[in-house]
Amino acid sequence: MNMIINGKTRVCAIIGDPVEHSLSPVMHNAAFKELGLNVVYVAFNVTRNGLEDAISGARSLGLLGLNVTMPHKSAVINYLDETDSAAKAIGAVNTILNERGKLTGYNTDGKGAMIALQENGVDPDETKLVILGAGGAAKAIAFQAAQEVDELVILNRTPQKAEQLAELLNKQFGNKVKGTTLSAEVLKKELETADILVNATSVGMNPDVNSSPVPANLLTSDLCVMDIVYNPLETQLMKDAKSVGAKAVSGLEMLLYQGAVAFEIWTNCPAPVDVMKDAALNKLAEQGVRP
Ligand SMILES: NC(=O)c1ccc[n+]([C@@H]2O[C@H](COP(=O)([O-])OP(=O)(O)OC[C@H]3O[C@@H](n4cnc5c(N)ncnc54)[C@H](OP(=O)(O)O)[C@@H]3O)[C@@H](O)[C@H]2O)c1
Repeated sequence: MNMIINGKTRVCAIIGDPVEHSLSPVMHNAAFKELGLNVVYVAFNVTRNGLEDAISGARSLGLLGLNVTMPHKSAVINYLDETDSAAKAIGAVNTILNERGKLTGYNTDGKGAMIALQENGVDPDETKLVILGAGGAAKAIAFQAAQEVDELVILNRTPQKAEQLAELLNKQFGNKVKGTTLSAEVLKKELETADILVNATSVGMNPDVNSSPVPANLLTSDLCVMDIVYNPLETQLMKDAKSVGAKAVSGLEMLLYQGAVAFEIWTNCPAPVDVMKDAALNKLAEQGVRP
């Protein structure tokens, strides 16, 4: 169906700096088109100094919704009317809904990651999940995982950040979260009893494509491994996981489902995830990233 832009067309956008390589415009435009919704999605490069004006512009122009990416995920909270519990706890917003000038901030990264696991046949209920990293993405995933798993272990190169995150989550969700240092020794011990391993560090990301945060000999076939890095689409960690017969879930799945959750917040319609995934894969291929 051809898209006709007219007087009733609503606008969604991603704001960040930089934004030109974002996969969100193609993913969401494909979804709006698939469902025949009169909405377009564009990217706006917004500098730190321009953030407050951009948000007030979104409000007065009646934008339907926004995605927010680096470096604005935390600062944007100051300009919103409300934030949901995940965004508040994490201190970061990646999705905004505009309801007649009232802006509500959400964080869909954690839900996106956990839905990605489920959609790939991994039920997090009654499992032990080990997450590597304590940065922005790890925080969002840990916040959601703490509500779904039995035991959560956060391992980070800078252990203090993992400890602080564990303390925050234990206060909210009971004492099931441990935060400590990311080392081969700790990994060996924790992975012996783990069901799910999530890499939320940037280790393995292009151009560092031969690196993995986990020594290959610590991976076993009964582990499910999700690497949230999606460039390359198959990281060294995923290659190692597959070679021992473990289930491997790619970062593209998380990207897809965080987008699907945002789409549903804006439209109240189930997201056409297959169409969104094809659009994202085509865009990545254009950027030279191929399965
Ligand atoms: N698939 C998706 O939808 C999705 C969404 C968001 C992000 N991502 C990807 O996830 C990765 C992390 O993003 P982020 O926003 O969370 O970044 P971030 O806030 O900068 O955090 C980076 C994390 O990686 C760790 N790290 C960096 N280099 C390391 C190394 N050499 N050894 C061990 N740990 C290292 C950092 O540890 P320290 O604390 O010790 O520095 C920190 O925990 C990026 O590759 C990003 O592209 C994917």
